[in-house]
Amino acid sequence: MNAVLEALQFRHACKKFDPEKKISDADLGMILECARLSPSSFGMEAWKFLVLHSEGIRKKLRPACWDQPQITDSSHVIVILARPSVIHPESPYVRKNFERRGLPEEMTSAYIDRYKAHMDVEVFPVMSDYAWCSKQCYIALANIMTAAASLRIDSCPIEGFEKQQVEQVLDIDTSTYQVAVIVALGYRLGEQTPRRRQDTRDIIEHI
Ligand SMILES: Cc1cc2nc3c(=O)[nH]c(=O)nc-3n(C[C@H](O)[C@H](O)[C@H](O)COP(=O)(O)O)c2cc1C
Repeated sequence: MNAVLEALQFRHACKKFDPEKKISDADLGMILECARLSPSSFGMEAWKFLVLHSEGIRKKLRPACWDQPQITDSSHVIVILARPSVIHPESPYVRKNFERRGLPEEMTSAYIDRYKAHMDVEVFPVMSDYAWCSKQCYIALANIMTAAASLRIDSCPIEGFEKQQVEQVLDIDTSTYQVAVIVALGYRLGEQTPRRRQDTRDIIEHI
């Protein structure tokens, strides 16, 4: 079977992790590299991956995450932070990001103008800066889960949390970063829950 399909079939939202089993540094490094390689709109990479190793911090975090046991029983927790503070078209960060392409100045300026027009018309009027960055963070989330699954490592994406409380516990400077989504990683205890999916013909249309 195709390796990606196999990984996607292995992956499920793991509810019960084995607290005794830890992910090796090499495997964690590979998963984080897959996060880093994730695409983002205009290549903005307005994110950060906060890896929680410490049991103490995870114990403190759990009540802010609906007391979900995955927070403390998994091997590692990655908190994916959105970075809305840098995405404004006038921001030096945006210019620097486009300059990485190594294009002549007039092309860099044209890219920034295109970015500004897109953000002013399609993004800023309809969603918050945080929401736009979070959309990108979810791409990294998917890659993290698929990368983990390819190593037979289980994961659980976690949106069940009180955002402000999580930011307080982790001492996040919210003028720079905000929590987008969390993912717990480790090894399952027991069987995978049955998978439920809609029928192909109900959700895929070819035109
Ligand atoms: C963004 C996101 C947030 C989620 N948050 C939680 C969560 O807080 N706790 C939980 O147990 N499952 C959470 N889930 C898991 C979903 O309930 C699960 O993916 C869905 O029911 C499909 O099941 P499967 O992933 O096992 O195939 C989340 C999934 C996603 C994609």
